[in-house]
Amino acid sequence: MTSLSDTSCLTGHSVLVTGASGAIGQAIVKRLLADGAVVFAAGRNETTLQKLSETDPARIVPLVYDIADEQAVKAAFRTIQSKQSDPAVGSLIGLVNNAGVMDEASLMLSSLDAVKHQLNVNFLAAYQHMQLAARLMARLKQGAIVNVVSQVGEQGSAGMSAYAASKAALTGATKALAKELASTGIRVNAVAPGFIDTSLTEHYDDKAKEAVLSRTAFNRAGTPEQVADAVGFLMSSASSYTSGHVFPVDGIFHP
Ligand SMILES: NC(=O)c1ccc[n+]([C@@H]2O[C@H](COP(=O)([O-])OP(=O)(O)OC[C@H]3O[C@@H](n4cnc5c(N)ncnc54)[C@H](OP(=O)(O)O)[C@@H]3O)[C@@H](O)[C@H]2O)c1
Repeated sequence: MTSLSDTSCLTGHSVLVTGASGAIGQAIVKRLLADGAVVFAAGRNETTLQKLSETDPARIVPLVYDIADEQAVKAAFRTIQSKQSDPAVGSLIGLVNNAGVMDEASLMLSSLDAVKHQLNVNFLAAYQHMQLAARLMARLKQGAIVNVVSQVGEQGSAGMSAYAASKAALTGATKALAKELASTGIRVNAVAPGFIDTSLTEHYDDKAKEAVLSRTAFNRAGTPEQVADAVGFLMSSASSYTSGHVFPVDGIFHP
């Protein structure tokens, strides 16, 4: 029997976290380290990743690449694969698709380039990561994928149609891949944050923030650590009978 704190399945294994240079990503890295994993910390900001890895150099492996660059993603996975037999790293048992971009614009003023960029980063890149990670994890007949989606993708929000569509696409893929990969031992879940104070939301002035929080029953913003706790649970054996679900971390957000 496993307990809610049973995270022992991560010890001796590695997990890839994208967007590890961001606020939620750093909290996820810390949570997975505490749970025993070695973490491949991916992002474009080399300085931030280097600083992060200095907090635990033996267990944080920085990977600097643009996730929207298909060839760079393949190269990153070759690096991960080359370390699979290193006992200090361990085989890849988890993927957290956390990197994301948000560009708010109304339909009539949206540039198609901005729409494509959000679809590329938030959906296509995450899809390619799932494809390459699943090929590695299927050999082990176990693994867990957690996608960071958004309440905006679940419920919609005016001025955020492209972002909502990109996150809803990832939610759809989460549910479909959970079924497709069930026989391989790989679970696929998502967490859907509401409003979290990070650089993604720092452009909100007090009025805009108040407008969002007035639609949040808890009437306060969430923290990166609260999102990371949900990711840790879905990555752990404590959730071993759960796949294809979207776990809200939103203080009860209602549009
Ligand atoms: N904050 C919220 O209220 C909220 C709510 C719902 C969902 N989310 C989701 O939570 C996730 C994390 O967001 P956050 O709030 O922590 O924002 P953040 O601090 O801005 O972090 C975003 C991360 O994404 C990475 N990233 C963006 N484009 C990339 C690219 N092309 N290649 C590689 N990495 C890229 C950034 O890395 P570099 O800077 O190193 O490039 C950064 O680490 C996102 O998926 C976001 O949509 C956030």
